[in-house]
Amino acid sequence: MSEPRPAEIYQLLRNLTSPVVAITSQRGGKGNGMIIDSAIRASIVPELPRLAMFIHKFNFSHGLIFESGRFALHLLRTDQYELIHQLGFRSGRTTEKLAGVPHRPGTTDVPILDECHAHFECRVVNAMDTGSSTCFLGDVVAVGFGAATAPRGDVMTAAYFREHLPAAWRPEYERHLKAAQDHARATSHDITPLTWTRR
Ligand SMILES: Cc1cc2nc3c(=O)[nH]c(=O)nc-3n(C[C@H](O)[C@H](O)[C@H](O)COP(=O)(O)O)c2cc1C
Repeated sequence: MSEPRPAEIYQLLRNLTSPVVAITSQRGGKGNGMIIDSAIRASIVPELPRLAMFIHKFNFSHGLIFESGRFALHLLRTDQYELIHQLGFRSGRTTEKLAGVPHRPGTTDVPILDECHAHFECRVVNAMDTGSSTCFLGDVVAVGFGAATAPRGDVMTAAYFREHLPAAWRPEYERHLKAAQDHARATSHDITPLTWTRR
């Protein structure tokens, strides 16, 4: 029997992929939003809800989360492709991505998107360097739901996202993914252990 090849291993690992979610953050009055598919539940204790997520260092949000120690994760509905395109295909370094997206300040002051399935506000309690990204462990400190007027809808899973991504956006998505993979290939071995101190 032959050894599985990297492409096969990658496809198998995709079974572990989280839903496609929106992450918001803020530093010095500047709010931002991005999209990830690398968040997981990180606690089995109902009274101590936690999650973990991997944020690439080259993303603008990385600095905001690292320096503020706060973020909000939003489960999205399956009809929120437009929001994914707005937040996940360009950087907040050059655009005010939240300008046209209805939002309000949360209890920790991070922007909370009005439209989503549900949101979790988090404080970072630990972090791990992976070379190309940081894995943030967050305590969930507040939970809420999307606008009461809109149905909460089904959660946007990674499988649903890939299957229904509008064809016009696929080349752009694949270009971004390849650039991120190239960056991760070059930097993933350069790990610096870090000690997290509460911000
Ligand atoms: C479906 C999807 C999944 C993504 N998953 C991640 C992820 O897990 N981690 C990450 O750092 N970026 C991920 N990205 C890329 C960021 O959302 C993207 O680079 C974004 O432009 C970053 O914005 P910022 O520079 O304003 O922070 C994903 C994008 C999409 C569309």
